[in-house]
Amino acid sequence: MEQKNYKRTTVTAALPYANGGVHIGHLAGVYVPADIYVRYLRLKKQDVKFICGSDEHGVPITIRAKKEGCTPQDVVDRYHKMIKDSFHDFGISFDIYSRTTSETQTKVASDFFRKLYDEGKLIEKTSKQYYDEEAHQFLADRYIMGECPHCHNLKAYGDQCEKCGSDLSPLELINPHSTISGSEPVLKETKNWYLPLNEYQDWLKKWILDGHKEWRPNVYGQCKSWLDMNLQPRAMTRDLDWGIPVPVDGADGKVLYVWFDAPIGYISNTKELMPNDWEKWWKDPETRLVHFIGKDNIVFHCIVFPVMLKAHGDYILPDNVPANEFLNLEGDKISTSRNWAVWLHEYLVDLPNKQDVLRYVLTANAPETKDNDFTWKDFQARNNNELVAVYGNFVNRALQLTKKYFNGIVPECGELLDIDKQALDEFKDVKKNVENLLNIFKFRDAQKEAMNLARIGNKYITDCEPWHVAKTDMERVKTILYISLQLVANLAIAFEPFLPFSSDKLRKMLNMESFDWNQLGNTDLLKAGHQLAEPELLFEKIEDEVIEKQVQKLLDTKKANEEASYKAKEIKKTITFDDFEKLDIRVGHIKNCEKVKKADKLLKFTIDDGSGKDRTIVSGIAKFYNPEELIGKDVCFIANLAPRTLKGIESQGMILSAENFDGNLSVTTIDKVVKPGSEVK
Ligand code: MF3
Ligand code: ZN
Repeated sequence: MEQKNYKRTTVTAALPYANGGVHIGHLAGVYVPADIYVRYLRLKKQDVKFICGSDEHGVPITIRAKKEGCTPQDVVDRYHKMIKDSFHDFGISFDIYSRTTSETQTKVASDFFRKLYDEGKLIEKTSKQYYDEEAHQFLADRYIMGECPHCHNLKAYGDQCEKCGSDLSPLELINPHSTISGSEPVLKETKNWYLPLNEYQDWLKKWILDGHKEWRPNVYGQCKSWLDMNLQPRAMTRDLDWGIPVPVDGADGKVLYVWFDAPIGYISNTKELMPNDWEKWWKDPETRLVHFIGKDNIVFHCIVFPVMLKAHGDYILPDNVPANEFLNLEGDKISTSRNWAVWLHEYLVDLPNKQDVLRYVLTANAPETKDNDFTWKDFQARNNNELVAVYGNFVNRALQLTKKYFNGIVPECGELLDIDKQALDEFKDVKKNVENLLNIFKFRDAQKEAMNLARIGNKYITDCEPWHVAKTDMERVKTILYISLQLVANLAIAFEPFLPFSSDKLRKMLNMESFDWNQLGNTDLLKAGHQLAEPELLFEKIEDEVIEKQVQKLLDTKKANEEASYKAKEIKKTITFDDFEKLDIRVGHIKNCEKVKKADKLLKFTIDDGSGKDRTIVSGIAKFYNPEELIGKDVCFIANLAPRTLKGIESQGMILSAENFDGNLSVTTIDKVVKPGSEVK
């Protein structure tokens, strides 16, 4: 495909919401690949800016503030700092990390909106929205809860039921209530401004479906399924008191929709970085714009934001939107609310100085084409078997031997044997190979390619055995180490975008001033006579205990969640005394109890119910009791439950048992001796 020659590249990474920390899912999905790409372009001496910041408006932040009893400003101040520090700690090399509450952003976003408004590019529309009469405010979808019309979960939100996953509109909820006051909301008319996405549908189809077939299949596919439906106008304003005020008369109490506001944050942060020079990074057709995001952001970056830019008219459009799928953690979806995550700030406390290990593992498992799983076992294996045993080992042997035999001075290269030529040959194409993959955003494969080179280096030095040769032929050792050192220097450069901390450490050990991508493939990067610095270990083995501790931490979280979910179970709807009277609960004496064949959950009870006749009850508690334990016990059972047949046995009632939060069952026994058939009330 023809590649246009661009003068510069603007790279953005999704602005994270400032209502929580950063976890490995964020890093793997967006920030590590974006950082690799930017570092690569910088090494190539291309003109690139890497733009990010906190997304500080939107409803979730106000909910968090309410929960914590503080202001939204307090929330975003706290998390902005935390997020910024985490990114810095992991070497995510933004040129700017600002915030959407900045003054520049208020101005840029307001002007943007105002221009669309003045030029009639927005539609004014009145609609009915839920209003909380006690709190005197319109309710965002997330502030309304009620019964899900599909699965009857009582705690569905106005935009989504988290139990069955259905997308909802607040109007669909049964018995809605406001989460602010608890009152029943009323429908009230309100005016908002809409972006008529429908009017841009044909243009979008051409631009994406015809013009950007090179986008990743997951991105292209999602766009296509949106564009196959009829796009609807989307409200760009909200009735809310946290956000950028709508800059129009008669819009009191309204703010810009957070998804209108946030992507403009890319622009305003660029402006903050380069107050006089920012425009060419957004308006010059010779600038290439690339958005790194997670898959939940695709529609906003491929449809909504481009329509905003197009409607405005002065801006360039994204050239590519490399969105990743999701990373799971030990088989479960990462979840902030369930604390099912590896948080960056905690990681560095537990595994200090191991930024590159995490970067490496996250790239090796990057969810580029499908969701992927992070496990601590894999983390350990990749560290020990790849970083330590291959890359680290090769580097360490080359540097230590040079120190030992030549006082750390790069030796002269003698005559080359086939084995030398072969190793050098395999490095010849490193630049092209890694580059081709990075250019098409295949970060996993690119890193794998770099690692393969380390394998070649490692094998070279193993095969050449300089430590043996040293006993007989020092001239030959010189050549082996000369070549090894060239390969080490190549690796240091090739790995810089992926493992910047290690490459920097290695650069210092090699005593090199700086790296340049164009040096890659050169096999005389270090001249004979060049003095190396003191070698250190690049990576260290991670022991089982360290990994077990991390796994235990997750198990503890799981347990805490189970306990919390028990606490959260709600009391059922109130019943009348008459309802209760309908139940006939009795005491029964267990005369016999045995397993039911071919049913691993069921036990069959023979009960003395005081009637003189035996009663049979089948109960699903076989996992929790041996039958013998139960014989002789007096238990409560429901005597008038309609009989049911289970595995061919008619069950005449139900034995009552308590279900612990972890699912364990315990039968209800009787405290004193009472006769079988006694009523329980
Ligand atoms: N805050 C959003 C999220 O975390 C991403 C915003 S990206 C931007 O999903 F384009 F709006 F900035
Ligand atoms: Zn539901």
